[in-house]
Amino acid sequence: MKYIKLLILLIIIYSCENKNNYLIIKSPNKNISLEFKIDDGIPNYTVKKYNKTIIKKSNLGINLKKNLELSNNFKINKYNKKSFNSSWKPLYGEEKKITNNYNNLFIELYQNEVKLNLHFKIYDDGIGFRYEIPNQNSIKNYDIIDEITEFNLSENDSAWWIPAFAYRRYEFLYANTSIDEISKKNFSKYVEDISYDTQGIDAAQTPLTIKKNNGFFISIHEADLTNYSSMTLAAKGNGKLEAELYPWSDGTKVKLKNRIITPWRTIQIADNSSELLTSNLILNLNEDPKKGEDFSWVKPGKYMGIWWEMIGTNESTWWPSKNHGANTNKVLEYIDFASKHGFNGLLVEGWNKGWYPAWCCSGNGIPFSFTETQEDFDINKISEYGKKKNIFLVGHHETGGQIENYENQLEKAFQLYNINGIKNIKTGYVNDISKNIKRINLDGDTVYEWHHGQYMVNHYQKVIEMAAKYKLNIITHEPIKDTGLRRKYPNYISREGAKGQEFNGFWTNGVNHASDLPFTRLLSGPMDYTPGIFQLNNFRYTSPSSNEIDREAIVPSTIAKELALYVVYYSPMQMAADLPKHYKKHLDAFQFIKNVPVNWDKKLILNSKISEYVTIARKDSNSGNWYIGSITDEKERNFDLNLNFLDKNKSYEATVYSDTNNTHWKNNPMEYQIKTIEVDNKSIINMYVAPGGGFAIEIKEL
Ligand code: NOJ
Ligand code: CA
Repeated sequence: MKYIKLLILLIIIYSCENKNNYLIIKSPNKNISLEFKIDDGIPNYTVKKYNKTIIKKSNLGINLKKNLELSNNFKINKYNKKSFNSSWKPLYGEEKKITNNYNNLFIELYQNEVKLNLHFKIYDDGIGFRYEIPNQNSIKNYDIIDEITEFNLSENDSAWWIPAFAYRRYEFLYANTSIDEISKKNFSKYVEDISYDTQGIDAAQTPLTIKKNNGFFISIHEADLTNYSSMTLAAKGNGKLEAELYPWSDGTKVKLKNRIITPWRTIQIADNSSELLTSNLILNLNEDPKKGEDFSWVKPGKYMGIWWEMIGTNESTWWPSKNHGANTNKVLEYIDFASKHGFNGLLVEGWNKGWYPAWCCSGNGIPFSFTETQEDFDINKISEYGKKKNIFLVGHHETGGQIENYENQLEKAFQLYNINGIKNIKTGYVNDISKNIKRINLDGDTVYEWHHGQYMVNHYQKVIEMAAKYKLNIITHEPIKDTGLRRKYPNYISREGAKGQEFNGFWTNGVNHASDLPFTRLLSGPMDYTPGIFQLNNFRYTSPSSNEIDREAIVPSTIAKELALYVVYYSPMQMAADLPKHYKKHLDAFQFIKNVPVNWDKKLILNSKISEYVTIARKDSNSGNWYIGSITDEKERNFDLNLNFLDKNKSYEATVYSDTNNTHWKNNPMEYQIKTIEVDNKSIINMYVAPGGGFAIEIKEL
């Protein structure tokens, strides 16, 4: 009798374990499935859509210090599955209401005494998962040596990528190669020579966009990157990618005092390139602001700047000189212009002490002061004048990547800005050398960190939290990538984090980069690209004190395309980047920049082909008017636009800003036409887009 009982018990345990070594969970609409398995002790997952493979069997694991390899020898303790369906309203954004509908799988694993939990969320637009290692006596050190998350694709899948562990952070043109070709050597071969930049491994930054051989489009990224190191993806052959974290200078990947909750590893999955642009997965995997925290003071808006005249037209300097851009008289003139045309802010760069001609990139400490003004910049007078004219300064803090210098002054600088009514600060972290962020470690030694390791992730976090204390919004240039933290911190209002318009000023992005961005960098969140350049050639002086124009310099765009970017590239703080004197030449086209909203109720992707063209319609959250933007690469196009998204039985007036048949990004970029037509929801309008061009449409209810 005793024997029989024991046998039954064993069968139950065995069958339980056997069954539990394989779990499957589907998205709410059942199209996406995630299979979790333990094979010979190794946890792994597989993802499918419509039963076709998206991610082949991929291993999971994390290795901790003191030889604790949490990547094998695992068993399932227990698991649970739950369904969630709710919605939430962002304070501002691309959509008024976001649905948060997913199926949840929480698995508790154990390896002898050690516990590790895996948390999966399966949405209709993709999956997210993360590791959770609770506090426990069997772990003495929570520092991470390696994360072994795999994303096993197919060798025939192709990726749009920029290199990680490279000197210029995220500011690169995109390479488009097979997964296996992701390497610095190939980047040097196909895009830009970075062969002299030998520090660090071969890997791609995220979000990484992939066109799968079986037709699907996916983006691999992360959500809620806090107190951790940024994830990059290294090609391991045969279509396999593996997570690689930026290490600290001592080699540790992540330093933690206790329990580990990693960022979400995300895979957005779409049937086509347009669907990929509609996913809210990253925001859904972030948290709301802390209870009781009020961010109602965060207001989206538009700004101009004393900026392009340094970086683009090269007629002014950041540093003191007879051409110093940030001088009081000029600032007041800009305020007049910005105020007359209904802007909210004016960025002024080079207002503070510490700038000098060779300011950038030494890594050895640039004495930027964030509280002392240059002699010709009267911050009180400017702020008073701005207040009367309803234009608030957008502050500028270029740190040169000198973090300790900045952190030492941070609170005082924010206090100064607060007193002067400043609402937004653009920060900057230019330091064009790999692993060149100086830090003094606990032993008092000087060490150098990567731009995207845990040290910097925590720095950006410090800045955003301190800024919230002083009711300031932050627009970071040379940032850490956006992983959706703007949901919890709505004052993280925008950021650069890619090759932006600035390169068209002092170098060039080429004509095709602008149509890569919506399918790559912009998948992570808003971008301060700084659109709206109208003087597209003959704009740049050979030096600030010369009268000689650099005839070679062009912005590879058209005026109509520059307008389109305000709709295509989402940013809640959006810049009109050109100079007043250039806008004065085209006040009719400038009207679109004045009218275009920055806060939306809805977005629709009307057409797209990855990295070639995209047309987006957005509904204004204030008026209910619609705005359409369309951009193309170097090829001209003809589109029939179906306006069936407009309300039935209503008439609208559409103002169409477009290229003409003679416009061309290279030879004739500044020719455009403006037409007004009546439309309704049965209208199909034919639009011509010139090579390298675009169009912008404002549709108002009559
Ligand atoms: C790089 C930024 O992207 C640019 O906008 C800024 O003007 C310069 N750094 C100087 O801070
Ligand atoms: Ca930059």
